[in-house]
Amino acid sequence: MKHIRSTYVFCSIVMSVYGWASKLPEERELTTNCSNMSLRKVPADLPPTTTTLDLSYNLLFQLQSSDFHSVSKLKVLILCHNRIQELDIKTFEFNKELKYLDLSYNRLKTMTWYSLAGLRHLDLSFNDFDTMPTCEEIGNMSHLESLGLSGAKIKKSDFQKIAYLHLNAVFLGLRTLSYYEEGSLPILNTTKLHIVLPMDTNFWVLLRDGIKTSKILEMTNIDGKSRFANYETEKNLILENSKTSILLLNKVDLLWDDLLLIFQFVWHTSVEYFQIQHVTFGGTVYLDHNSFDYSNTVMRTIKLEHVYFRIFNIPQESVYLFFTKMDIENLTISDAQMPHMLFPVYPTGFQYLNFANNILTDEIFKKPIQLPHLNILILKGNKLETLSLVSCFANNTSLQLLDLSQNLLQHENDENCFWPETLITMNLSSNKFADSVFKCLPTSIQILDLNNNKIQTVPKEIIHLKSLQELNLAFNFLTDLPGCGHFKKLSVLNIEMNLIVSPSLDFFQSCKEIKTLNAGRNPFWCTCELRNFIQLEKYSKGMLVGWSDSYICEYPSNLKGTQLKDVYLPELTCNTTLLIVTIVVIMLVLGMAMVFCCRHFDLSWYLRMLGQWIQTWRRVRKTTQQLKRNVQLPLFISYSEHDSAWVKYELIPNLEKEDGSDLICLHEGNFDPGKTVTENILNYIEKSYKSIFVLSPNFVQSEWCHYEFYFAHHSLFHETSQYAILILLEPIPLYCIPTRYPKLKDLMEKKAYLEWPKDRRKCRLFWANLRAAINVNLLETRDMCELETFTELNEESQGSEISLRTDCL
Ligand SMILES: *[C@@H]1O[C@H](CO)[C@@H](O)[C@H](O)[C@H]1NC(C)=O
Ligand SMILES: *[C@@H]1O[C@H](CO)[C@@H](O)[C@H](O)[C@H]1NC(C)=O
Ligand SMILES: *[C@@H]1O[C@H](CO)[C@@H](O)[C@H](O)[C@H]1NC(C)=O
Ligand SMILES: *[C@@H]1O[C@H](CO)[C@@H](O)[C@H](O)[C@H]1NC(C)=O
Ligand SMILES: *[C@@H]1O[C@H](CO)[C@@H](O)[C@H](O)[C@H]1NC(C)=O
Ligand SMILES: *[C@@H]1O[C@H](CO)[C@@H](O)[C@H](O)[C@H]1NC(C)=O
Ligand SMILES: *[C@@H]1O[C@H](CO)[C@@H](O)[C@H](O)[C@H]1NC(C)=O
Repeated sequence: MKHIRSTYVFCSIVMSVYGWASKLPEERELTTNCSNMSLRKVPADLPPTTTTLDLSYNLLFQLQSSDFHSVSKLKVLILCHNRIQELDIKTFEFNKELKYLDLSYNRLKTMTWYSLAGLRHLDLSFNDFDTMPTCEEIGNMSHLESLGLSGAKIKKSDFQKIAYLHLNAVFLGLRTLSYYEEGSLPILNTTKLHIVLPMDTNFWVLLRDGIKTSKILEMTNIDGKSRFANYETEKNLILENSKTSILLLNKVDLLWDDLLLIFQFVWHTSVEYFQIQHVTFGGTVYLDHNSFDYSNTVMRTIKLEHVYFRIFNIPQESVYLFFTKMDIENLTISDAQMPHMLFPVYPTGFQYLNFANNILTDEIFKKPIQLPHLNILILKGNKLETLSLVSCFANNTSLQLLDLSQNLLQHENDENCFWPETLITMNLSSNKFADSVFKCLPTSIQILDLNNNKIQTVPKEIIHLKSLQELNLAFNFLTDLPGCGHFKKLSVLNIEMNLIVSPSLDFFQSCKEIKTLNAGRNPFWCTCELRNFIQLEKYSKGMLVGWSDSYICEYPSNLKGTQLKDVYLPELTCNTTLLIVTIVVIMLVLGMAMVFCCRHFDLSWYLRMLGQWIQTWRRVRKTTQQLKRNVQLPLFISYSEHDSAWVKYELIPNLEKEDGSDLICLHEGNFDPGKTVTENILNYIEKSYKSIFVLSPNFVQSEWCHYEFYFAHHSLFHETSQYAILILLEPIPLYCIPTRYPKLKDLMEKKAYLEWPKDRRKCRLFWANLRAAINVNLLETRDMCELETFTELNEESQGSEISLRTDCL
C-alpha cells in the first residue's frame, strides 16, 4: 500500500477546462497520467474526477474488479504496453461514460465480455489471442467507430459476430497469423482497414480480401517470403467486387517479379490511388515487362517513396518504361536513388510528375519527351545542370509549376531559353545560378523562388517579368534591393541574408505594389543613409517581415548588435542642407542679437570697459614687484573748469563712497610761483600715487598743452598708464584735436581712456572700473597715503580744484 501511495504522488495530473460552462463539475476534464512508472497495480487513490487515465508502459498484469470504481467519470482509459493476461470487462461496469479503451500491446489470451454500450474506440490489437476476441457483446456496441483486433486464427465466424457494426476503421495488429479463412475480411463493414502483418506471412490472400473489404486499405510489413507465384494461379488475378480506391503499402520487401505481379493485380481492381512507401526490391527477373497489360484500369495516381534496390539483374530502361508507360495522371517516384528516367516516344498523358530526391542528370532531357498535358513537374534534389535544357523540354508541355530546387543548375549567357506561356511558379532555390539566370525566365512567371544561389545583382538589361508577384532572393549576394523596373507587379520580396548594407529608397519609389518585404539579417550599416529605411517601417506598418528582431546593425562597431528600431540618427546630423541652414540661422540670430545689444545697450562700451578692467587686474600682479616711488599724494585730478561740477558732484563722492576713507587728495592751484605751470603740474604728477585727467573738448582746448609734454616724454604708454588715468567725459572728435598734440591723438586712437557713459545705468560699471584702476598697488601704499591725505585735506579744506589759467600758445 505504501508503495502505491508513493507512486501516486508522481502521476501527473492535468486539468483542462473547456468553455464557459466549465464551472459545472461535469464539464471539467482531468487527466491523470501514470504512464511509464513501473506500476504493478492500479493506484488506489486516483482522483475521483479523473476523465482520462493513462496507465500505459507499466507492469500491470491483472486488473481487480474494484480498480476503477472510484473513477466513475472516466472517459478515456489507456492500458497499452502492460502485461495483462486476462480481463473481465465487467471491471468497467461502473464506468458508464467510458468511450475510449486501449488494451493494445498486452498479453491478453482470454476475455470475459460485458456490454459497454457507450464505447467508441476499442483497441485489442497486438495481444496473444488465439482466435479473434469478437463476440455478440461487441456486436451490440452500436456506437463503436474504430476497433483494433488481433488473433492467431482468423475465421469467418469471428467477424460474423460484428458484421452489423458500421465502423470507420478496423485495425488488425497481428503478432502471428497461423490460419486465415478466405473470405473473412469482406464480412467487416468498415471504411478503412489497416492490417499489420507478422513476419513471414503470406500477404496475398489478405490483399485480395482486403481490396474487397474497405474503401481505404493499408497493409504494413509485406515481405518476400510470401511468393505470390507459388500461391495463386493466374486465373485468380481478376478480382470482382473490389471496393478499395486507396491502397497504401508500407514496408515492402519483395522481388521485382512479385512487385510487378502486385501492380498487375491492382491494375484491374477499383484502386485509383496506389502508394508504396519504404519499398525494397531486387532479384532476378523472369517476367516479361512487355506482357504487362496496361489496359482497362481506373488507376490515376501511383506514388513510390523511399525506394531501395537490391542486386538487380534487369535493364534499367525496362523499369523506367514500365512506370512511364502507365500513362496515368500522377506519378511520383521519390527518394529512390534513380539515376535516369525514360519516356515512351509517343505522347503520354501525365499531368503531375514528381521525381524528387533522385540522382537524375541533364541526360533525361537529351531525348525528346512528349508530355503535352504536364502541369506540375517536381525535380527537386537531383543533379541537373543546364537550365536552358529544361526550358526546351518544358516548351512542349503546359507546365504551370516547375520545382528545380536543390540541383546544380546554372545558366550561360549565350544559351537560349524557351518557356511555355503557361508557367506561373518556378522554384530555382538552392542551385548555382548567377545574375544571368534572369535572362532565362518565362515572362508569364508569377512566383519565383531563387533563394540560396549566387546572385549579385539583378541585371539592368533583362526582359520584363510583367506578371511577377513574389520573388525570393534570400541567401544570395545582393548588395542592394533590386528596383522594380523589370517587375512592376511585385508585391512580395524576400531578400533576407544578403549583403545589403544600406537599402536604397529607389526601390520603394519604383515598387508601388509591394506589400511585404523581408530584408532581415543583412549586415546593415547604421549610418545616415539608413535613416529613411528605418523611418519606412513607421509609415508602412507591417510591411517589413521580421521587424524588428531580424534587423540588426553590423557597423559601426559601437552599434553592432543593436536593433535598427533602437538606432537614433537625428535629422540634423544626417541632412547637410538642414545643418547648413541651421548654422546660418543661428549665426544670423546671434548677429542680430549683437547688433541689437550694441544699439540698445551700447555693448561695445561694456566690452571696452571690461577689457580695461581685465588689463588693470593683470597689471596688479605685475606692479606688485615694481619699485615704489616717492609718493606723497594719493590722487591728483586734473580737469577743466567747465567740468568742475562733474568732478565735485560725481567723481569725488563716488570715489570716497567706495572706500569709506579719504583717499582723494585734491589740489588748489597753489603752485610754486618760482616754477612754470607745466613744471608745477609735472611735480604733482610725480608726487601723486595716481593722476586722473578728465578729458573733454574744453580740457583739450585749455589744459592739454601742459600735459602733451609729459605724455610725450613717456614714450611707452603702458608705463604712464600705471600712474595716469584718462577719463573721457565727452567725446572728442579726432578732427578737433590740434595737430600740435600728436600724443593726445595717439591716446585717443588707442582708446586708452575710460569713457563716461551717457546712460546712467552703466555708471556702476564705470565706477567699478575706475576704482579698480586706482586701487592697483594701492594696498601697499595705503597707510602712507591716508596719512598724507588727512593732513593735506585739513590744510586745504576750502577747495579741491586745480585752476590753471595758463596760456598755452
Ligand atoms: C502521459 O505522459 C506520457 C509521457 O510521459 C505521454 O507520452 C502521454 O501522451 C501522456 N498521456 C496523456 C493521456 O496525456
Ligand atoms: C520510460 O522511462 C524511461 C526512463 O525513465 C525512458 O527511457 C523510456 O523512454 C520511457 N518510455 C516511454 C514509452 O516513455
Ligand atoms: C444484443 O442486443 C440485442 C437487441 O438489441 C439483444 O437481444 C441481445 O440480447 C444483446 N446481446 C447481448 C449479449 O447483450
Ligand atoms: C455498411 O455500413 C454502411 C454505413 O456505414 C451502410 O450504409 C451499409 O449498408 C453497410 N454495408 C453492409 C454490407 O452492411
Ligand atoms: C494529381 O496531383 C495533383 C497535384 O498534387 C492533385 O491536385 C491531383 O488531385 C492529383 N490527381 C489525382 C488523380 O490524384
Ligand atoms: C516553343 O513553343 C512555342 C509555342 O508552343 C513555339 O512557337 C516555339 O517554336 C517553341 N520553341 C522551341 C525552341 O521549341
Ligand atoms: C522551393 O523549394 C524549397 C526546398 O526545395 C522549399 O523550401 C521552398 O518552400 C520552395 N519554394 C516555394 C515558393 O514553394
